Amino acid sequence: MKKAALLHRPLRRTLDAEKQERVDILDQTQLPWREAWLRLETLADAECAIRVMQVRGAPLIGVTAAYGLALALCQDASDAVLNEAAVRLAATRPTAINLAWALGRMRAHLAHLPPEARPAAAWREADAIAEEDARQNASIGAHGQKILRDLAAVHPRRPLQLMTHCNAGWLATVEHGTALAPIYAAHAAKIPLHVWVSETRPRNQGLLTAWELQQAGIPHTLIADNAAGLLILQERVDAVFVGADRVAANGDVANKIGTYLKALAAARQHVPFYVAAPSPTFDFSQPSGADIPIETRDGDELRQIAGIGANGKFARLRITEDEAVYNPAFDITPASLITAILTENGPCPANRAALALHAPEKWPLCGNGKK
Ligand code: MRU
Repeated sequence: MKKAALLHRPLRRTLDAEKQERVDILDQTQLPWREAWLRLETLADAECAIRVMQVRGAPLIGVTAAYGLALALCQDASDAVLNEAAVRLAATRPTAINLAWALGRMRAHLAHLPPEARPAAAWREADAIAEEDARQNASIGAHGQKILRDLAAVHPRRPLQLMTHCNAGWLATVEHGTALAPIYAAHAAKIPLHVWVSETRPRNQGLLTAWELQQAGIPHTLIADNAAGLLILQERVDAVFVGADRVAANGDVANKIGTYLKALAAARQHVPFYVAAPSPTFDFSQPSGADIPIETRDGDELRQIAGIGANGKFARLRITEDEAVYNPAFDITPASLITAILTENGPCPANRAALALHAPEKWPLCGNGKK
C-alpha cells in the first residue's frame, strides 16, 4: 500500500477511485491528527484497509470491499479469483452487513460474464455502489432535516440539543454520512443546534465525529461515554441520532458498543432515539438482533491509548500491561427502544411489519445474498 499525494482530494468524500487503476482512501487511523491518503492497488491492500480500520463504518466498508474485488479482477479475472477474493474480503469484519451485501451484489453481477469483461464491469458496479451510497445518505439527510425542523419548533428559543455516538458521518460512508446527514442538512438550513459527541472508547470514533463537525462549523462538545446518561437525565438532550451496522428483520439494530446504553437512558426519559441506516444495512435474513454476529477485537485496543505525545509525534501509551480484556465492538439495541429507523425512503417504525412495507425489496432476498 502506497501513500497517495495529499493534493486535490475531495474532502468530505472518503474515497477517490480511478478507473481500473487505483483507489485512494483517507486513512482514518491517522485522523484527527493528520489527513493522509493511501493508495489501494491490490486485493491485499483493500483487505488490510478494512481489517485495520483505515476505512471503517458500515457503508464505507461495503464500498471498499466492492473496489477490492474490482482490484483483484484487474489482476486475474478467473472464477477462482472472483470466489477467493470475495471470501477473503468477507472475512475482514463480521458485523456490518454492507460488506456481505456489496460482495453479494458484485458476484451476482460478475459471475455470468466472461472473464475478459469482468474488470471493467466490476469497476462500473463498484462505482455504482459508491454513488448509490452517496445518494442514499443525502436522502437520509433530507428526511432527517424535517424531523429536526419539527423538533426545533418545540424548542424555539434555544439550539436543539442532539447526541450521537461513534462516527456515522461522511467518514463512515462515501459522502454525507448517515446519522450526521440530518445534522448537516439542518445546519445548512440554519436550524440552530448543538451536538453532544461521545468519545466512543476504545477506538475513539467520537473524535472523528468531532473533527467532522469542527470542519463544518457545527457547535459540538465532546463527552466521555459515561456522561451520556447524566445529560439525558438532566433533560439536556432533545434527540439521539446513531448509525447502524445491521438492522434485523424485527427492527433490532447492531451498532457501535455503547449504543444500547444510550438507547436505554433515552427511552427512560422519553427522548427520541433515531437510527439512520441506508437499505444496504438491512439484513432481513436475521430474525432478531440475537442472531447478528458481534465482532470481538484485539484486547490491545483497550490496553493502549493513542494520541500525540509531548514531542508532537503520534504515540501509543500502554495503560495496562497484561490485564485480561474483553473487547466487543458492537452491541444490539432492541427495536422497542428505537423511535424510528431513518432510511433513504424516510422514517420507519422499528418493527417487522413496518420494515416489510418500507423495504419490500429486501424481504425475499437476504442481505447477504442468500435466498
Ligand atoms: O467499528 P466501526 O468504526 O466500523 O463502527 C462504525 C459504527 O458502528 C457506525 O455507527 C456504523 O457503521 C454506522 S456508519 C454510517
